[in-house]
Amino acid sequence: MICGVGIDLVENSRLEIIIEKWDQKFLKRVFSEREIQYCKRHVHSTTHYGARFAAKESFLKALGIGLGEGVKLSEIEVANGKNGKPDLALYGEAKNQIEKRKIKKIHLSLTHTREYAAAVVVLEK
Ligand SMILES: CC(C)(COP(=O)(O)OP(=O)(O)OC[C@H]1O[C@@H](n2cnc3c(N)ncnc32)[C@H](O)[C@@H]1OP(=O)(O)O)[C@@H](O)C(=O)NCCC(=O)NCCS
Repeated sequence: MICGVGIDLVENSRLEIIIEKWDQKFLKRVFSEREIQYCKRHVHSTTHYGARFAAKESFLKALGIGLGEGVKLSEIEVANGKNGKPDLALYGEAKNQIEKRKIKKIHLSLTHTREYAAAVVVLEK
């Protein structure tokens, strides 16, 4: 049974300004080392960061919570499988929230252009 859906759209230029200003301080607060390495491998890294940022926010929306309610963005990680398909790996309070709600499956899809990045998350019990 589907018990949550979340969607988010990121304007890559806005994210680029934040990354240029705060660099590692921002990246390490929001993204895992694995995510940073993945994004850095791509020429247009901001768009991949944007998609991951959108995935993290979509996950919170699917749960019906916002930032500042215990889940840190760094506890929500996008991991790509061998075929490129993205999945969410959860840690800490993000994982607790899923266990508490007895969610059995999380679906994630990402898309991006140079300007925008978007994600959709569906939670299933
Ligand atoms: C999977 C696929 C469909 C992605 O589509 P796309 O339009 O090229 O790229 P999008 O920007 O919409 O999506 C990119 C995201 O798709 C996701 N993705 C990659 N492979 C995937 C797969 N096998 N299954 C699900 N999602 C996948 C990734 O999350 C990726 O973002 P990331 O690298 O930041 O993690 C692509 O690999 C593909 O096969 N494209 C076909 C392109 C083509 O044939 N074009 C010619 C006609 S226009």
